[in-house]
Amino acid sequence: MTVQGAVLRALRKPRGTARQGFGATGRRDNWIVYPVVQGLVFTICATYLTFSGVLWQPLGGPAYEVDGYLSPLFSPLIVYPNMPTWLSPGLLILWIPIGFRATCYYYRKAYYRFYFADPPGCAVGEPTIHRRFALENALPFVLQNLHRYLLYLAFIPLTFLWLDLIPAFSVQPVGSGPPVSGIRIGVGGMLFLVNVILLTGYSLSCHSLRHLVGGRLDCFSCTQARRVRYTLWQRLTDLNRNHMWWAWTSLVTVTLADLYVRLLAVGVLTDLSIKLG
Ligand code: FES
Repeated sequence: MTVQGAVLRALRKPRGTARQGFGATGRRDNWIVYPVVQGLVFTICATYLTFSGVLWQPLGGPAYEVDGYLSPLFSPLIVYPNMPTWLSPGLLILWIPIGFRATCYYYRKAYYRFYFADPPGCAVGEPTIHRRFALENALPFVLQNLHRYLLYLAFIPLTFLWLDLIPAFSVQPVGSGPPVSGIRIGVGGMLFLVNVILLTGYSLSCHSLRHLVGGRLDCFSCTQARRVRYTLWQRLTDLNRNHMWWAWTSLVTVTLADLYVRLLAVGVLTDLSIKLG
């Protein structure tokens, strides 16, 4: 055996302790329900979001910005002169949140289960073909290690989503009329607010961020700076315990927020709102 062959063999997946064979298990509960439901929700949301953010505009879809509401898939809005019509502005920013979610530790567990049965569930046997692969030690899944860098980048669109609340909660001029002032509290604004809160919770509960703040320290109490890090780490740990919840709820609200803007644009919905001032 060559050295390269030996290294590749060493990288391959061990047999593990679960019963061998796809679906073999001693579990008596309905373990298959969670992977199936999560797989369906994830597939529906991810398909819609990819279509809306990347393909819908070049195909002549409805506007992604209407009445002060900019779809979160397009924020910050990046357009430039002579931009090709086949290029959606969403694509210029969406690669960050898509990459961030695709490499998320929690989503990895979820989609490895429902797309690759790897494994189908805890203590459930998986197909033996898996042992032929080097998992996250080789392309393409070695790219999952980019997660920490995508975390840093993810705070850029997140910041803009908070800024988008300003027009979302402001009275908008009618057509191309003169600027107006006043606060608007509408269904769209509330949806945007809930969405950005959940996205912030999702980002702050990230495992990589928790490690960044509190990891690689032997002593939490030795210096003032470390005590501050320890306190922050505790707060992030509280959020991190519910990372799965943040992941699913924010995925659903970002889908709904984009859909809401599109339905406003085609006149299917009217934004119910009250105006103050
Ligand atoms: Fe899920 Fe980082 S682990 S966002």
